[in-house]
Order: sequence, then structure tokens, then C-alpha cells
Amino acid sequence: MLNKQPIGIFDSGYGGLTVFRSIADQLPGYDYIYLGDNARAPYGNRSFHTIHQYTWECVQMLFKMGCPLVILACNTASAKALRTIQQQDLKNEDAAKRVLGVIRPTAEVIGDYTRTKQIGVLGTKGTVQSESYLIEINHFFSEVKVHQQACPLWVPLIENGEYDQPGADYFVKKYLDQVLAQSGQIDTLLLACTHYPLLQEKIRAYLPAHIKVVPQGDIVAESLRNYLQRHPEMEQNLSRNGTQEFFTTSDDTSDFDYHASLFFSEQVISEYIPLK
Ligand code: DGL
Repeated sequence: MLNKQPIGIFDSGYGGLTVFRSIADQLPGYDYIYLGDNARAPYGNRSFHTIHQYTWECVQMLFKMGCPLVILACNTASAKALRTIQQQDLKNEDAAKRVLGVIRPTAEVIGDYTRTKQIGVLGTKGTVQSESYLIEINHFFSEVKVHQQACPLWVPLIENGEYDQPGADYFVKKYLDQVLAQSGQIDTLLLACTHYPLLQEKIRAYLPAHIKVVPQGDIVAESLRNYLQRHPEMEQNLSRNGTQEFFTTSDDTSDFDYHASLFFSEQVISEYIPLK
């Protein structure tokens, strides 16, 4: 049996697969375990308490599967659960375990994309209400003005396979109009939800050409590469057999596999992992 110390990647459902795609491309060779909490997705409109409880349960499942490092490839979980996990929950775990999110690495670089210094941040209700992007972006780029827009119907449209259907256009345009109405100076739109890259084609179609649309996958992957270079004690612990395993808390794995393959741009075969 292989002695595995994989990198764990967590999302409420499928969205984290867009981040995993970039990580697998940029950092091949490591062992990876992806866990989607599809039985309880979406998280976006849930309370702080519930998102923390669900996220921590899933992180512990990944720890039990041998992951010393877990990436919360979900903005909602990063916004609502990461701080409590890092500051409280991890104290009762093996001291070498680490959990990282996607908001800080994105906030660290997004200011470099804008010339007008005005950015639109599109996310779930939970991410927007947490104001995590406002705070983090202004920490790194105090001159940048951040305009947030919640897009609560985008995740349900995507999870239900409607993202490339004509019916999705109405809600794509609606939230884009709302964010652009906040300022005529916005030249960069951050897709601050890991599901949204699936809507990227439709989003692009409703925007003027000078506005950049920035998904997070490559930013997070680059930041992970950097983290592993700076933390050889973690990097040397990770196993490198090049395996990728997929788990979902939904008992309908064939449905997961169908959707997951679209998000991951490669065939996915998953296993069911029941919630306790
Ligand atoms: N993909 C998640 C994110 O990045 C949101 C999905 C959900 O609402 O569960 O925020």
C-alpha cells in the first residue's frame, strides 16, 4: 500500500474543481484528494455557524484520509469558516496540519490587474456579506476601490446544469448590470466564487471589451506553489505518486461524476463518503 500524504481540496460541491484543475496543471505529481459536500451544497446562503460546522466536518474527513494540508477551494467557506478553523479548531489537531483558503492569495494580486483602481467582486451572498474581499484587498491595495455584488442565483443555475442554456442569460446580465451600475470606472471583474468560471463565456458576452474577467484558479495554484517553496517542512511531507481521488457526500456518484467532469475538463470517477 502506498504511504500517502495527499493535498486535500475542499468545496461545497463542484466549484473547487475549477481551482483543482489549475493546481493539477501547475503542480502535477503530488497526490490529491478532492472532497465535495454536494449533499449539503450550496453553502452560499447559509449562516456563518452552519458554514463553519459543515466546512470543519469536511476538513476533518480530509485529515482522516491522510491529508496534512487542506485547501478550502471555496470562497464562501474561506470567508466564513477559515479564520475559526485556523485560530481555534486546529489547536486540537496535530500541530503539523494546515488549512489554507482562496481569498488572501487572490486579494494579494488582484490590485495588479486594474488600471482604473476600481474592481468589481462577484460572489455568493455569504462571501459578499462577510466583506472579506473588501478588507483583504484594501489591506494589500489601499488605493483600490472594491465594488461587491452578490449573485445568489448563479450557483443554483450552474449546479443544475443551466449555465450554458439561454435561460441563464437573464440572471447573468442582471447581476452584471448591477455591479457596473455601482461605477463606470470598473475595469476588472473578479469571479470570487469557484463555480463562476463555468459562466465565463456568457459573462464575457455581456461586458464591454475593456473589462477584464479574472477567475481564481491560476492565482490560487501559483500561490500554493509559492507556499510549498516557503514551507519545505510541509512540502517534504507530501507524497508524490501522481494520484487524484474524488469523494462526494452525495450518494448519487454518477450525477456527481457527470457534472464534475465538466468542471474539471477531464473524466472524474468519484466515491461516496457518507456524512456521520
Ligand atoms: N464555490 C463556492 C464559492 O467559491 C460557492 C458555492 C456555494 O454556494 O456552495 O463560494
